[in-house]
Amino acid sequence: MGSYDKAQLLITGGAGYIGSHACIEFLNSSYDIVVIDNLCNSSQESLNRVQKITNKSLKFIYGDICDANLLKKVFSEYNFDAVIHFAGLKAVGQSVNKPIEYFNNNIIGTIHLLQAMQDSNVKKIVFSSSATVYGRPEKLPIKETFPRSVANPYGRTKLMIEDMLTDLCVSDELWHVALLRYFNPVGAHISGLIGEDPLDIPNNLLPYVSQVALGKLKRLSIYGNDYPTIDGTGVRDYIHVVDLVKAHVKALEYLNTGNKGVHAWNLGVGKGYSVLQVVDAFERLNKIKVPYTITTRRKGDVAECYADPTKANNELTWKAEKTLEDMMIDSWRWQVNNPTGYNKL
Ligand code: NAD
Ligand code: UFG
Repeated sequence: MGSYDKAQLLITGGAGYIGSHACIEFLNSSYDIVVIDNLCNSSQESLNRVQKITNKSLKFIYGDICDANLLKKVFSEYNFDAVIHFAGLKAVGQSVNKPIEYFNNNIIGTIHLLQAMQDSNVKKIVFSSSATVYGRPEKLPIKETFPRSVANPYGRTKLMIEDMLTDLCVSDELWHVALLRYFNPVGAHISGLIGEDPLDIPNNLLPYVSQVALGKLKRLSIYGNDYPTIDGTGVRDYIHVVDLVKAHVKALEYLNTGNKGVHAWNLGVGKGYSVLQVVDAFERLNKIKVPYTITTRRKGDVAECYADPTKANNELTWKAEKTLEDMMIDSWRWQVNNPTGYNKL
């Protein structure tokens, strides 16, 4: 731990939706935090609010993980014990149109990060992967041992980074790597102070539903009601973002207790809900209407996707605890309290 009393972490992408929630958990678990973020999809205000919520301070560095010189400087200034790596571009549709941008940002950025880590002998990393690495699963629920495949350039970046990290562990047994495969993170911190703040029209279901409820968007398009599911609409494993980030603290503890090499965990609840079930719960719990139209299927969508989270439950002694009700109420609280997001008044 060098000259610091507390373990010090670098959190890349810490100003973003999941990263900002993770900062709260790590600060509350007594870690010392340095965030690096280029704010390409976020606002520094999220970090002001993290500090307000926790009554603890963190260090923010405005910068890009693709900037090797900056990383070199940052790693020489601090004495990191581990890196929690959220930084990346994440819009599936955009990645199809701009693959080079995705390869550059996500893959090249990660290569620079890993180089800086290796040069400074920091060999512990918790990486934000995605259920997208399972492509079109043949069976449900999805286990970590299922074959991985690629459905789009975004997914390719996740898969390649997982493989790069695995190769690193083969090359040097001092590396400790956690691959956290997120299912569908939703919800917001209970304070209503931080949450998901999409820059453009949202792609994901919950932010879209919230903005329709608010009247910012006219109506929700439900992409298909002819899937072989409970009511014909797509089924996903929605997980509250606060549950999700708690697993990051547990994963780091797991690596800290001598578990070398690469470890993958599914982070989901293990239960799927359909689009109609989500919309119904949102309307009922928040007492607000969400007008919708059933449209054609969205290209690339699967009918159903949910995790088997047993491995994370057992190895990390972690379990998603929040309910669909919590997810709906917390998403709406954040949206109502921040109708224009963080900085856009
Ligand atoms: P987000 O866009 O809110 O957060 C990502 C953060 O990384 C942003 O603050 C952005 O400004 C920053 N960033 C991007 N490129 C950067 C770079 N080159 N240098 C420095 N900062 C950079 O997204 P999120 O939902 O919080 O996702 C966090 C991570 O989790 C991403 O890697 C994403 O792919 C992964 N993930 C997200 C989901 C989801 O549904 N939200 C699902 C699976 C995996
Ligand atoms: N949906 C709608 N209307 C919308 C948005 C979504 O009906 O306006 C439906 C989708 O068809 C799907 C469900 O709501 O059935 C969830 O869609 P999201 O876009 O919220 O989430 P996805 O499961 O499609 O995508 C998520 C992440 C991706 C990741 C993927 C696979 O956002 O990053 O899971 O793990 F790649």
